[in-house]
Amino acid sequence: MKRIHFNEVATRDGFQIEPTFIPTDTKVALIDALSRCGYAKIEATSFTSPKAIPMLRDAEEVMGRIQRVPGVEYTVLVPNVRGAERAIEARADELNLVMSVSETHNLANLRMPRERSFASLAEVVRLVDGRTPINVSLSCCFGCPMEGDVPAGEVLRWARRFVDLGVRGLTLCDTTGMAHPAQVAHLVEALQRELPGPQLTLHFHNTRGMGLANVLAAVQGGIVRFDGSLGGLGGCPYAPGASGNISSEDAIHMLEAMGYDTGVDLPALLAVARQMPQIVGHEVPGQVAKAGRITDLHAAPPFVAELREKFA
Ligand code: COA
Ligand code: ZN
Repeated sequence: MKRIHFNEVATRDGFQIEPTFIPTDTKVALIDALSRCGYAKIEATSFTSPKAIPMLRDAEEVMGRIQRVPGVEYTVLVPNVRGAERAIEARADELNLVMSVSETHNLANLRMPRERSFASLAEVVRLVDGRTPINVSLSCCFGCPMEGDVPAGEVLRWARRFVDLGVRGLTLCDTTGMAHPAQVAHLVEALQRELPGPQLTLHFHNTRGMGLANVLAAVQGGIVRFDGSLGGLGGCPYAPGASGNISSEDAIHMLEAMGYDTGVDLPALLAVARQMPQIVGHEVPGQVAKAGRITDLHAAPPFVAELREKFA
């Protein structure tokens, strides 16, 4: 059975766009519950400017209070050197650096041109000097909501620059759900052919209903690592029109049904997913938590037994 590794991003990508502050106690309890579900990785929070992302201003406290479960990597999003220093102080297992392959989105989200972001992130890699693994999330790899098409060559160019710095992994992010399956197949083939070394993760948003189709295209193209967000929450506050990530439980349910091993205890995860509407104070898009698994069957109506007898 092929192993697929899931990174749960609900408390980072999921929460960062929520309008009402979620208390630190709730975040810690949620991460602790997720830690017991079998994830490979949990992106717990981000060490960004509290003015840019007020929801995650409690990053130190969250990282200090969660129970670290052996085998689970606790990663955090980092936009600059200041964020990296905070993340290392908080004993993050991995730094997930972020920049956009779209110049316009990088200016909107990180307030600087891509070259400045790259220089700042290259400085982080030098500072860390191999002591903590580094992943780089590249936003808008499948299109930018302001610029439109992003050529595959542009994604490869930025990916190669980070690989040359020696990072452990790259995440290709479809920040506003613009990817379609044929494009995913093409880009993952090109990335794996040109840059076979680093761990490659795919990060999809379901903004236009193509999320799980894109997961399937990526899996069929050999990808074994995905980001997902419990309940399908999520979105970048600085990308116009952004909405939820693929729902982790829906993606895991699909892959398990197809015979893949995600390592995740799906009934336990669904129990946590069912708490999400209460945590965020509104309905969430995830479907399997509402519908139940395909193996959760219903009793037939009583007249079916009578009809069976009648037609026996
Ligand atoms: N952690 C905490 N504070 C930080 C910080 C960090 N990593 N980086 C900068 N700051 C603070 C500075 O100290 C400064 O504070 P002050 O106004 O009290 O002096 C303020 O933020 C602005 O600093 P500056 O360096 O001018 O940053 P900026 O305004 O150009 O913003 C970023 C740049 C990257 C820090 C900010 O845009 C950011 O955090 N963006 C995150 C975006 C994000 O997470 N998007 C969603 C995920 S894709
Ligand atoms: Zn995202």
